[in-house]
Amino acid sequence: MTSISSNSELAGSTANHGAKDTTNGKDFTIAHLSDPHIARVEQIRGRDLLSKRLFGYLRWKLKRRHEHSDELLTILLKDLQRSKPDHIAITGDLTQLSLPLEFTLARDWLRSIGTPEQVSVIPGNHDTYVSTAWDQSFIHWLDYMQGDKQAQQAGAIASLDALYPTLRIRKRVALIGICTAQPSALHLASGSIGAGQLKKLQAILKEVEGQGLFRIILIHHPPITGVVNWRRSLTDVNALQALIKQYGSELILFGHAHKSYYGDLTTPAGLVPVMGAPSASALGRTDERRSRYYLYKIIPSAGGWKVLMHERVFSLSRHQFVDGRQQVFSVSTPGS
Ligand SMILES: [Fe+2]
Repeated sequence: MTSISSNSELAGSTANHGAKDTTNGKDFTIAHLSDPHIARVEQIRGRDLLSKRLFGYLRWKLKRRHEHSDELLTILLKDLQRSKPDHIAITGDLTQLSLPLEFTLARDWLRSIGTPEQVSVIPGNHDTYVSTAWDQSFIHWLDYMQGDKQAQQAGAIASLDALYPTLRIRKRVALIGICTAQPSALHLASGSIGAGQLKKLQAILKEVEGQGLFRIILIHHPPITGVVNWRRSLTDVNALQALIKQYGSELILFGHAHKSYYGDLTTPAGLVPVMGAPSASALGRTDERRSRYYLYKIIPSAGGWKVLMHERVFSLSRHQFVDGRQQVFSVSTPGS
């Protein structure tokens, strides 16, 4: 795989805002956003003050409430509706303290974005800030999280362990959802995939290998080292990388770091783009931490794919989303 940065070449050529489509309808545009942190910390109850939620409550009151804006999510949604992606991926931390009201508000927000067919969600560490009852938490997002086969099965799923990893296929795009979220100690925001999920992930990667699919991995914690410090890192990052190197992937999307990140992972088949989105609700102390979302227009080409990445960034001065970085990737995929 090769990747080429090219802002000027791409101006006006992506899926956004009425660009002319010359791909005979075979292209697929996925939007990526992350970490909206919908917070209602005032709903915290007395007994919650004996848990990690007390720490999160104080942190929100002293710091984070000044960094995030619900209004920004509304502005982002309107921009997203103009962009008209085929699918939207949200990589975790929809809530702040995993409070029941935050889960239902996040569900309502998801419904305003699109249907479960159009929107894929994975959880983040704030969604498992403490252990929660399934029927007061993830059950509300299940339609947006579960894989295609799970959606067809009648049996009830009642835990993240039973649910993940997930596989959703939309046209020629395979969306592979991984859960790294689990309750952690007071001073930690780390994540783990775990042996059980890694085994099931291997089976999914085998299943989609050689099928000519554009394989996108959705994960909350960065799947490479050095993006966040050890307290916020993925404990089994090496095991995940080993699977990706063995079976391949065309794109990896993550959140958690609250800053934009453009990198790649070296595999025997070439470089896999690894892209991180900042918080969708962040006003941003610096530009890299300001709210943005990404559009990836995936176009089949000879022996692989061409991907046009187009960033939409919140402008503080214009109070709306504007064009940001644009980039082209050429991706070779065996079997495509
Ligand atoms: Fe977050």
